[in-house]
Amino acid sequence: MSRQNQLIELLGIEIPIIMAPMFLVSNVNMVIEAMKSGIAGVIPSLNYLTGKELEKALEDLNDFKSSNENHGSYGINLIVQSTNKRMEEDLKICVEKRVPFYITSLGNPEKVLEGARSYGAKVFSDVTNIKHAQRVYDLGVDGFIAVGSGAGGHAGPHPNQLLVPALQKHFPDKPVIAAGGIASGKGILSMLALGAVGVSLGTLFIASNEAGVSDEYKKAIVDSEMKDIIMTSRLSGAPVSIINTPFYRQLKEQDEKTGPVSKDKLTKLKRLEEGISMLEKSIQPGNYNNLWVAGHTVELIDEVKPVKEIIHRLKEELINAINDIRKGGFSVD
Ligand SMILES: Cc1cc2nc3c(=O)[nH]c(=O)nc-3n(C[C@H](O)[C@H](O)[C@H](O)COP(=O)(O)O)c2cc1C
Repeated sequence: MSRQNQLIELLGIEIPIIMAPMFLVSNVNMVIEAMKSGIAGVIPSLNYLTGKELEKALEDLNDFKSSNENHGSYGINLIVQSTNKRMEEDLKICVEKRVPFYITSLGNPEKVLEGARSYGAKVFSDVTNIKHAQRVYDLGVDGFIAVGSGAGGHAGPHPNQLLVPALQKHFPDKPVIAAGGIASGKGILSMLALGAVGVSLGTLFIASNEAGVSDEYKKAIVDSEMKDIIMTSRLSGAPVSIINTPFYRQLKEQDEKTGPVSKDKLTKLKRLEEGISMLEKSIQPGNYNNLWVAGHTVELIDEVKPVKEIIHRLKEELINAINDIRKGGFSVD
């Protein structure tokens, strides 16, 4: 098995692309469209308010997957941090429904590994540095999602041009999937050239017809440039990339006037709840107090399209990028 085919083999998909999990954005519709196009789609379990809703979503995804001839797949993203009180309940439902694979973020994936191993599902962990990668490697994850700088959400500090080969150097037996800053066929090819077995794309799919957010948010993705993306710890305590909206600037001004907040556990939890509530309001139409999560690829996104067309374009661009490199005199035969 060649390294480039490893993700295809591991997930049983046609093209080594994952539609990344996005809090409040990802939904069953998007993932079904991803599966129809031969890629994998992932939904954060927290996008469902109750276990019943999660269960229903998994049933719909399983129904589609078993009848789909195009070899797409799906996964569930579990936040494995102590702040996620629903982790164990959600994991139990996922194991019962035999979710094909998992992406864990922000903590220790031990319990997820245990659940997944009970029926042979794969587990990938988001990592932003070698130290965290070592911890999840020792636990036995199946691969890393290298979350580089410029990514939407909890972006890492290192560019993927460095993080992907660094992970390979330290853990040559583990597949690396690159996430962050990728929105074109050329971007995908560059990550495969660096040794990634595949890529995970988030921000690009916010600008899709099927994304479960307001048209205002989608328009902001199309209208923004990379200079408009900033990192803030205001929402969850960890740095998250967002669009620098007038509301965020107002919030920051207010915070500066109030001065530093206490770092005790309760205050942190209160801030997290407040952050989530602001994010939830921001995806609704007609809301003016907007905090919109997005990565640097907004620079390359010019229109809102159906998921199917976005993936079709990526495939074509990837083939053209490979041919262009060959034409450019890089042939090795
Ligand atoms: C709106 C938004 C929400 C996100 N929510 C999550 C999440 O709930 N869990 C997670 O592991 N990653 C989350 N991410 C990160 C993505 O899974 C992925 O790593 C990232 O989008 C890749 O970078 P890109 O946006 O440049 O493609 C989110 C990203 C965005 C843009």
